[in-house]
Amino acid sequence: NTIYLKDYQEPDYLIPKTQLTVEIFDDCARVSSRLSIKKNHSGERRELKLNGENLSFISVKYVGEESIAYDLCDKYLTIVPKSDDFILEIVNEIDPKNNKALEGLYQSGDIYCTQNEPEGFRKICYYLDRSDVMSSFTTRIEADKVDFPRLLSNGNLIDSGEMTGDRHYAVWEDPFPKPCYLFALVAGDLAKVDDNFTTKSGREIALEIFVDHGNEDRCEHALESLKKSMKWDEDRFDLEYDLDLYMIVAVDAFNMGAMENKGLNIFNSTCALANPDTATDANFFRIESIIAHEYFHNWTGNRVTCRDWFQLTLKEGLTVFRDQEFSADLNSRAVCRIEDVRALRDSQFVEDAGPNAHPIKPASYMEINNFYTPTVYEKGAEVIRMIHTMIGESNFQLGMKKYFDLFDGKAVTTEDFVHSMEVASGRDFKQFKRWYSQSGTPTVQVTSKFDEGADTFTLTFTQKLKNKSDQVYHLPVKLGLLDSNGEELELIMQGKSFGTETVLELHTDSQSFVFEGLKEKPVPSLFRAFSAPIILEMETKREDLAFLLSYDSDSFNRYEAGQRLAKLEIESLCEALRDNKVPQVDHLVLDAFSKLLRSANADEAFKALAFAVPSLVSITEQQKEFSPVIAQKAREILSHALAEANEDYLAEHFNRYNAKENYVFNAENMGLRSFKNMCLHYLLKLPKADYISLAQDQYDTANNLTDRFAALQALLQTQSTARDEALEHFYDLWKDDAIVINKWFAAQAGAPVGSSDQLIKKLENVEAFDIQNPNKVRCLYGAFAANLPQFHKEDGSGYHLIADKIIELNSFNPQIAAGLSKAFKKFGALKGQQKDFMKKALEKIIAVDDLSPDVYEIVSKTLKA
Ligand code: ARG
Ligand code: ZN
Repeated sequence: NTIYLKDYQEPDYLIPKTQLTVEIFDDCARVSSRLSIKKNHSGERRELKLNGENLSFISVKYVGEESIAYDLCDKYLTIVPKSDDFILEIVNEIDPKNNKALEGLYQSGDIYCTQNEPEGFRKICYYLDRSDVMSSFTTRIEADKVDFPRLLSNGNLIDSGEMTGDRHYAVWEDPFPKPCYLFALVAGDLAKVDDNFTTKSGREIALEIFVDHGNEDRCEHALESLKKSMKWDEDRFDLEYDLDLYMIVAVDAFNMGAMENKGLNIFNSTCALANPDTATDANFFRIESIIAHEYFHNWTGNRVTCRDWFQLTLKEGLTVFRDQEFSADLNSRAVCRIEDVRALRDSQFVEDAGPNAHPIKPASYMEINNFYTPTVYEKGAEVIRMIHTMIGESNFQLGMKKYFDLFDGKAVTTEDFVHSMEVASGRDFKQFKRWYSQSGTPTVQVTSKFDEGADTFTLTFTQKLKNKSDQVYHLPVKLGLLDSNGEELELIMQGKSFGTETVLELHTDSQSFVFEGLKEKPVPSLFRAFSAPIILEMETKREDLAFLLSYDSDSFNRYEAGQRLAKLEIESLCEALRDNKVPQVDHLVLDAFSKLLRSANADEAFKALAFAVPSLVSITEQQKEFSPVIAQKAREILSHALAEANEDYLAEHFNRYNAKENYVFNAENMGLRSFKNMCLHYLLKLPKADYISLAQDQYDTANNLTDRFAALQALLQTQSTARDEALEHFYDLWKDDAIVINKWFAAQAGAPVGSSDQLIKKLENVEAFDIQNPNKVRCLYGAFAANLPQFHKEDGSGYHLIADKIIELNSFNPQIAAGLSKAFKKFGALKGQQKDFMKKALEKIIAVDDLSPDVYEIVSKTLKA
């Protein structure tokens, strides 16, 4: 059952006003809705089909009347309206306690909460559950006072009070019309931590975070992050918050990271709660960016929303771009860019090369929940970034102004966004829009030619597209040229100077650019800051990569040169391993990286990234024959050689930066900690008891989780009693903490040493595990499936373990089951027996009765690869 973008039709009816009453009882919740409905076209009156799933229907009538003719099936409540403008009163019941799919209204611990994007509202009541139906909501909640002292919904609290029988009520009114996917309701016994923010126009906004009792000391970082986000959106985008109250609720059972419900964000507790003992630097950083992301949605998502779910990247790509810029402005721009691109390549590039590849604006889907993907989000953000790169910050901001002028309060399309940018910049992005409708990562091949007599250097760019029907992309190439001293050269084309760095644009399948006035052959630095999400194919000598690693003024390309050099070396090592030769690490590579480590013109945060060997995913993606076991071996050989060649330096710098000051989260300290812990990680590649003690000591004495967990991870590379002791200690310390203990699962399931399907079967039986909690599923089974050498073990045991879990999860949480099903994405790249094993596992899943559309879509597409 596939839905197509081309079939979009405007809604026949609108719901300008929605009044809900939600009564929470022990055994169910009763929802009474009063919907003002209006015909939305000039033709004959058609039937009104309201969505509704898993609802116990009780009654439907026009206001003030007795009964009404209706038709009810498991997906719709249908009536034939008697007029063009009327009010319906509908009553139904739901069972939040047994809602394990975590969509609609459900229970997380003792808290009732909602998740309605994209199509969860139909599991709360009968409604036109589509994003182009925007309504003004008033919500009355009634519940027991003792169990549910907090009753929250969107907008402003306009009434509250006592009722008989230990019950109470609250009434919320949201002044901004919104689609029902932004509706939220929370009821429970929660602690509140609050703060406030004064907007640039002088309005005071109350900020409130609601958490389980006992977690009050983990809220400060989220509040600080929220205030920074509000300020940044004013400063950079001139956007101010529009309600008087901003609430965030943290819950433990949540299918994804967080949700931007108007005025009442609901967060996965891992994405909101932090203090130095319970969260690492990476967690602090991620929380800051997710708080920002959800806050930024208030304008890009809520004030201007999506016409339909094919437009998802309209709000997600743009909001990811905004949160990336926020992080880059507040931290190190270079480090942020490197990490964003690394994540893009390790997830999105892989998706784009696999069986579930789709354009950032898909043309069809079976289950929209499957499209909250790295492609829609992260590649979507890259597409926005390319526009920004081509028109510049000030035109981009004019484009945003235009966007809000034209579309505030509306549900629109990606074309509407691009149109705003075109109008503001005077550019034509007709060809550029192909990025929205074509899938696959394009390759750009580059060749160069230096002409001695003419003093010219010619670069020729050729696009290689992924699919037969694809057309050439329009994309920006930011570049510079370096002379043999590492100095930036002036760029002169057709007698005109472009300074030392410029942005070229590609439009055709092959294009050449001639740079003039060059006395010697320059070294080009192309696609600076990763100016387009492409695969660059260019033969570059190892010497030139080493040179760029030392001298490129663009941090991203400096990093990139090192990664390319390391990958060339790992490729050679893989070949040696395949041919049963003794692998030898190239001295040029060791020297280049050793020089980087000691370089005076790079900071520690950068070095921690640039001195790390390429990820296993990025290596295997380039292999002619997918083989994670060999790739992992080669990767370890290079790491070991780097550790050996720099042992003294690493040990000395580990000690130098290992000062036990109080933990403060900021970009600089984070950089120092990551550098120090990188040193430790390398040292434990060397089989010396001293280094194990070093890690053990850091584990024992650390005053923050960043250092403690880094020590644990360093130990996880070894087979030692220190490793076992640390693991045991960590479990005892954190087994009752829903958030921290998940790291213990993930670290072991993802460990290079000691992880196996047997270990997973042991871990799923420990008391702290719970398959109904999505975070635990991700940390145990998700981390195992991402541990490539283990998941792809020769005997197929990894595939069967994960297949069995998908089948189990499918019966109660299809979204999480489908997410795990994406682990089989390398099916098309496998051969021989390995492929047969995976095929059997996939067929076992597809044979399940009652397979959800979520899992069916992923697995059936995978089997076709
Ligand atoms: N809109 C949310 C966000 O990006 C995520 C919602 C995800 N929904 C889903 N069904 N996966 O902030
Ligand atoms: Zn989002």
